[in-house]
Amino acid sequence: MEIHNANKTCWNCPAAILKGNVDFRGCGQSRRIVPKGDDKQLMIECARRPELGHYEPSITFEQCPEWRETEFGYLLKDMRVMILGLDGYLGWPLALKLGKLGCKVSGVDNYLRRDMVMEKGSHTVVPIARMTDRLKTASEVLGVNINFRQMELNDLKALREFIDEVKPEAIVHYAEITAAPYSMVDVEHAIKTQKNNVLGTMGLLWIMKDIVPMSSLLKLGTMGEYGSPLTGRPLFEGMFPNDAVLQWDDREWSMGGELTPRDPHSFYHVSKVQDTYNVYEACKYWWLRSYDIMQGVIFGVHTDEVAAHPDLRTRLDYDEWFGTVVNRFVTQSLLGIPLTVYGEGEQIRGMIALEDAMECMVRLIAAPPEPGQYDVVNQISGLYKIREVADTVAEVGSENHGLDIEIQRLENPRVEAERHPFEVVSSKLSKEHGFFPNVPLEKEIDRMFELLSEDEIMNRIDQKKHVIMPVTRWSGEKKESGVLEVYKPGEKKEEGYKGILDTE
Ligand SMILES: NC(=O)c1ccc[n+]([C@@H]2O[C@H](COP(=O)([O-])OP(=O)(O)OC[C@H]3O[C@@H](n4cnc5c(N)ncnc54)[C@H](O)[C@@H]3O)[C@@H](O)[C@H]2O)c1
Repeated sequence: MEIHNANKTCWNCPAAILKGNVDFRGCGQSRRIVPKGDDKQLMIECARRPELGHYEPSITFEQCPEWRETEFGYLLKDMRVMILGLDGYLGWPLALKLGKLGCKVSGVDNYLRRDMVMEKGSHTVVPIARMTDRLKTASEVLGVNINFRQMELNDLKALREFIDEVKPEAIVHYAEITAAPYSMVDVEHAIKTQKNNVLGTMGLLWIMKDIVPMSSLLKLGTMGEYGSPLTGRPLFEGMFPNDAVLQWDDREWSMGGELTPRDPHSFYHVSKVQDTYNVYEACKYWWLRSYDIMQGVIFGVHTDEVAAHPDLRTRLDYDEWFGTVVNRFVTQSLLGIPLTVYGEGEQIRGMIALEDAMECMVRLIAAPPEPGQYDVVNQISGLYKIREVADTVAEVGSENHGLDIEIQRLENPRVEAERHPFEVVSSKLSKEHGFFPNVPLEKEIDRMFELLSEDEIMNRIDQKKHVIMPVTRWSGEKKESGVLEVYKPGEKKEEGYKGILDTE
């Protein structure tokens, strides 16, 4: 297969310095380049190859000696990638992976996630080292040297200085408060989530405009921005396709290219929707370039790099605020607690394994959008009902690990549709970026059982089991959910809607 980014040109490259002669209003969304001026030519200079002088941006990545071939496409040599939220579940594995691929990785974190999990009275069940030890081990074991700075993203002066010093060619923005239940605890938690997330992103956008407008921004959204519309309208990748039409009152309009409606599930998800609009506008006003990544629920513990040494592992949470569903079910199985399915359990969600998610990120970093282009990618590898996830965890746990697992349906602490159609379009990653999922759900669940059964981790799981049952309700009450039903895996009949995933 052709390498996915071989034919991208200087136009996509963060090393290109635009020398004018271009009306940017023609770029980005419309993908139409409108040269201005007498000679009608668009000229650039290359920050990495000044000897080329001014030239038309037509050199492809395949032709350019600054881009070298890797297993994930062409990658800019020594590419400077900054990860915001580097200490997190995803930030840490991505830093190691990019470092192994030869990128110059820098990043910031204020350890907020560690603090918030402590606030819940919990801890990561997979022990993680202090940042100084993580960095030392990364250097010794993997030969990866990371330029890390402890920093609050909303400290704009410090962030501006760091970005100015590093001049990143891509910025991955993971540094947000990530939990729906956390944002629903009370007014303080809701405000903290929205301030942290929305203002953090806003500050970053202004700094990028001033210092690194050519750098690509990989901004993490979530599939939860779309919600689960009861009409069954497909969840396109951020924008309506060109041939979409709105019909009303005997009239019709093209919807092609317009942002699709969002229907978030919590105040956390609302913060992501607000980010979406802010990033979209910044691309429009200042010709920044961004992938807004609607990421599904991540599961798992494994990448080759985090598995290389115990001090390189990434965190894994199982508490009712921060634990994501597969991660929670596996730990519950090990504790002998019936798996906690909320409500009917017919809710359908898009998911992806940690290792696959990391590959997607590398491929996107390697294929920057054009100036002014705001692009949305739905990053999932499969659709699953929560009930099915419980069945799968129970099956792998009993067949491969000899566990006897039950499932319990609980009163749903959330406000969400428990039965709904769900059709997701996720074709850009495969069609435009050459990504095909490698890690099936069962395989990663099996790896999780392997790792989490280690004595030290089992002890840690056991120590905090009181944080598992949900008590944070969307109504604002704090009350443990009643048990509606307990059943054995496989007892429930296939029923209701099936998820549809369009990858073509
Ligand atoms: N994990 C998932 O299943 C999932 C799914 C969809 C989207 N996402 C999104 O992906 C991103 C990363 O998720 P994660 O699971 O790695 O979360 P995480 O909480 O483990 O990582 C985020 C990191 O950012 C840091 N951070 C937060 N606010 C900060 C601030 N103001 N200044 C500096 N550092 C700050 C935290 O301390 C944490 O280490 C988030 O934006 C999240 O919303 C995650």
